[in-house]
Amino acid sequence: MISGSLRRYSTNTAVLATAQVASPTGIVAALYEGVAGLPHFNPDDDGPSLPEPVAVLRAQIRKADAVLFSTPEYAGALPGSFKNVLDWAVGDDQPGSLNGKPVAWVNVSPRGAEHARESLRRVLGYLGAAIVESACLNIPVSRDAVDDDGLIPSDEIRAQIVVALSELAARTEPG
Ligand code: FNR
Repeated sequence: MISGSLRRYSTNTAVLATAQVASPTGIVAALYEGVAGLPHFNPDDDGPSLPEPVAVLRAQIRKADAVLFSTPEYAGALPGSFKNVLDWAVGDDQPGSLNGKPVAWVNVSPRGAEHARESLRRVLGYLGAAIVESACLNIPVSRDAVDDDGLIPSDEIRAQIVVALSELAARTEPG
């Protein structure tokens, strides 16, 4: 799971951190923690000796059966740091990359963030990811829904998170 927000009490990160602790039996939901530590994308560095954080990112994506995103919209677009993650993912031509991998996103913004979602859909299309529409859910999360531990206690929201995870898991290869 990859969050598009670096904010401490981010609602986007909270929904994914909550997925990590509330995932149903049989699903291991792991949050990628490296967004802020990635170098700015530079095609000159996208070669055989990748920067270590980029190698870690690609390894974690390859290890995952599916990827779930949650991102805010900034100024009508995807946050730069989040787009940076996706730009680094483009150059991975190894098996297990985002090409062909089941992906989905949850939208936590009560305002809709429709430009960010349109953009994410377009970028994931370039990557060849397999968007699982039934797992792409609107789960509005207000800032006061996030506890001091960065998690969302609401049973109703947790139930929706479980739906997204289960729909995504249903589209992965067994094993
Ligand atoms: C925003 N926000 C925002 N929302 C939106 O729907 N469209 C937009 O264009 C923008 N632009 C924007 C710019 C900047 C600089 C900030 C700080 C915020 C609102 C933003 O998406 C909202 O606060 C999200 O809830 C932030 O997500 P996290 O940090 O809670 O995960």
